[in-house]
Amino acid sequence: MPAQIAILIGPKGRGSNMRAIAEACASGDLDAQVRTVISPVDGTPAVAWARSFGLKVQIVPKGDGEAAGLMAALEGVELLCLAGFLRLLPTEVLRQMPVLNIHPALLPKFGGKGMYGKYVHEAVIAAGEKESGCSVHRVTEVYDDGEVLLQMKCPVLPDDTPETLAARVLELEHRAYPEAIRRVTHG
Ligand code: GRF
Repeated sequence: MPAQIAILIGPKGRGSNMRAIAEACASGDLDAQVRTVISPVDGTPAVAWARSFGLKVQIVPKGDGEAAGLMAALEGVELLCLAGFLRLLPTEVLRQMPVLNIHPALLPKFGGKGMYGKYVHEAVIAAGEKESGCSVHRVTEVYDDGEVLLQMKCPVLPDDTPETLAARVLELEHRAYPEAIRRVTHG
């Protein structure tokens, strides 16, 4: 039976990593099944895409009851993948199953609270880095602190803006996340 995975997206995410993972599962590139997509809000383009692709979507709002809601939504799931979800997870969830996240830089550099989206790429450029990329890592109680499982790298070009660098890194993310899931679910 294919590994049963869940994808937890954020309220503002594009959902492009969710899409890359779901398409890798559907094409057979990744021997896993997206058992559910979980979102804190309904009505986003990412949620609409997930439904149109035939995925089961569950809405678990932020706030009281979130931990219990997540635990119920994760029934039967072996691996949880965060994709654009920026908050820390309840401890119950972290104890229940392995959790992965993807970060748009080469951790341990340029991670931590507040380091997301354009802030990451701005910091990479400001630091004069010649190389950036993405990191798939395990999720713990501390932001961007868990074991790094896979990194893919790309150059930072002299005329890069945060937007051009973000686009180059995002292409890597869409290859790295399915590959990391493959490694985790197949030992
Ligand atoms: C990605 O850049 C990922 O690295 C970060 O959040 C962003 C999510 O993008 N964790 P998307 O919603 O998957 O397109």
